[in-house]
Order: sequence, then structure tokens, then C-alpha cells
Amino acid sequence: MNRPGEGWRPLRIGGVTVDPPLVLAPMSGVTNLPFRLLCKEQGAGMVCNEFISGYGLFYDNERTREYLVFAAEERPVSSQIFGADPAKLAVAARQVEAAGADILDLNCGCSVPKIVKSGSGASLLQQPEKLFELVRVMVASVSIPVTVKIRLGWDQRNRNAVEVAQGIEAAGAQALAVHGRTATQAYRGEADWEAIAAVKAAVSIPVIGNGDVRGPEDVLRMFATTGCDAVMVGRATQGNPWIFSRTHAWVRTGGLPPEPDAEVRLTTALRHGELMLQYKPPDRAAMEMRKHLAWYAHGLPGAAAFRTAVNQAATWEEMVGLVVSYRKRLLAGPVGSVT
Ligand SMILES: Cc1cc2nc3c(=O)[nH]c(=O)nc-3n(C[C@H](O)[C@H](O)[C@H](O)COP(=O)(O)O)c2cc1C
Repeated sequence: MNRPGEGWRPLRIGGVTVDPPLVLAPMSGVTNLPFRLLCKEQGAGMVCNEFISGYGLFYDNERTREYLVFAAEERPVSSQIFGADPAKLAVAARQVEAAGADILDLNCGCSVPKIVKSGSGASLLQQPEKLFELVRVMVASVSIPVTVKIRLGWDQRNRNAVEVAQGIEAAGAQALAVHGRTATQAYRGEADWEAIAAVKAAVSIPVIGNGDVRGPEDVLRMFATTGCDAVMVGRATQGNPWIFSRTHAWVRTGGLPPEPDAEVRLTTALRHGELMLQYKPPDRAAMEMRKHLAWYAHGLPGAAAFRTAVNQAATWEEMVGLVVSYRKRLLAGPVGSVT
């Protein structure tokens, strides 16, 4: 299973089924509701919200609460919180459950200085007992499954992912996602998939492998190398949600569909825009679509000029018009005419 033509082995996390076992990684500023819906349409088996401050939820911050909006069509959806105060995280956890998330995830992987300095994110890997306490409190506070997303450790000298994973399991978490880098590595170097395999071998809860999956080939290599129960994809989904549909088709049918052409890419970009506009006012939708459009156009002829024009568009309508005319010009060719 989880190989070309052999079909999927769905992942079960408590009562939640993740089928196919392909997960959109949480990405702050990227995996908001419209993008999650798009990835779901493209075949992701589970999508993750961007991380939310447990303190913001506890103090009822209005901007923080805006992140807690879920749609039936995206389910199952996992929602991640960060923080280090057990009593506040217990309150935040209940809010995530009440908002309709299927899974509650604790962030123990973020290495951004602001988060680490507050004792949250990856800094919890340096205080495993504290981390386990947070997991126990969260598990006791909600009835949905609690999961944790970790890195391999704080730094190369302190790669404690195996011990941390065992403690997380003992604390009652029902699955674990492992990004195969240390916190001090941030995104440098290569993700160590062997280390993910070692975590998988050391626990009996499901393990979701993450790090450096760039295409369908990598997804299947991650399954084979690590024995993980699901693969989580982050950066490779940006401007490329077909990574899910192409992998899905490959495993179901044995044939890997080709990379999408310019027409598919820009038509999907327009679909993404439609979803964005359903949930955001036009000016905010336009601002947020800028980076996505740059990602969709990446590598296409005339992408730089397109990106510049998009960044200067004054209105939502103007931006959509630019995508439509760019698509038309690309389809009409010749390639050199798009400058
Ligand atoms: C823009 C961006 C935002 C991210 N935000 C989060 C986050 O909110 N929570 C989290 O656990 N990881 C976050 N990550 C890390 C990803 O979930 C993932 O672990 C990492 O990118 C490695 O996977 P990849 O090689 O498939 O991108 C973020 C990554 C990126 C690039």
C-alpha cells in the first residue's frame, strides 16, 4: 500500500480518518481557509490551519479568533496552537474544539525567535517534561484527538526526538508529526528522513513524516524510507496544490499524471481567487493573492512581468483581469510574446 497502483492505507487518528494519508502542513500566512479548501479539492486527506497563539485565544483577542473559522468541506481539519502555559492552553484547546476542528495540534517545532523566547514552539524540545505536561493538560481538556508537531531536537547535539516522541505518546497524544530537522537548522541542510524512521520505530502512535517533499516521487520515497503513516507537505504545495492530486492518481492507478500546464495553473489560480473572495474582503483578498499568483506563475514565460503587474494592481477586478489576459496570451503563444 501507499505505492503506485497499490492504493492507499488510510491513517486513523482516534476517530478521524485521513484518506489519502497526505497532509497539508500548517504554514503561517499560507494555510488559511481558502488555501486549505483548494488543497482539499486537490486531494489532500487532511489540512492544517496555520498556528494560533494559545494566549491570543485565552485573552479573547479578536484577530486571533478570526483564525478559528472552519468549513465542512475541508474536513478533517487540524488546528494548531502554540504556547507554554498549561492553564491558558487548556482554555485555548477548548475553543479550538468548540470552533469545529477535528484535531488539536501542539506546535513544538517553530524556531522563530519571538516564539522560542516565550518558551513556546521548538523551545519545548529543551524542556520535555514541560512539553509532556502541556500534552496531558490538552488531552484532558478536549474530546478530539490531540497531536504534536516536533523537530528532531533543539540542535545537532541534542537530537532527542525519540525520547520526546515516547513521552508525547505516554502523555496521551494520538499522533505525531516530525519535521526532519533540528530547531537551530531552521530550513538549512536536508531533512533527515532516517531520523524520522527512528521515531516511527520507537512509538506505536501514528507518525506523520515531514520535510523536503518536493513532488509525488518524494512523497512515495518518504513512505518507503521512513515507514511513516502519512506524509505532510509544506512549501511544495505553494502554487502547486496538484502535488496531492498527482500523487493520489499515481497510487490509485499506477500512472503519474504530467505536471500541469500553464492553462491548468492559471485556471487553478483563478479558482483559488474565487475561494479567497468568499472569505475575505476584496482588498485583503487581492493583497493575499499576490504571493500565490507569483507562485502559480513561477517558471512560466513572462512570469516576472506578470508578478510586477499583479503587485501594482489597484483593485481585485484588475488583478483577476491580469490573470485572465496572461492565461490568454500564454495559450495563444508564441512564448516570446509574453513579456
Ligand atoms: C511560510 C511557512 C510557515 C510555516 N508555519 C508553520 C506553522 O504555523 N506551524 C508549524 O508547525 N510549522 C510551520 N511551518 C513549517 C512547515 O509546517 C513544515 O514543517 C516545513 O516547511 C518543512 O516541510 P516542507 O519541507 O514540506 O516545507 C511553516 C513553514 C513555512 C515555509
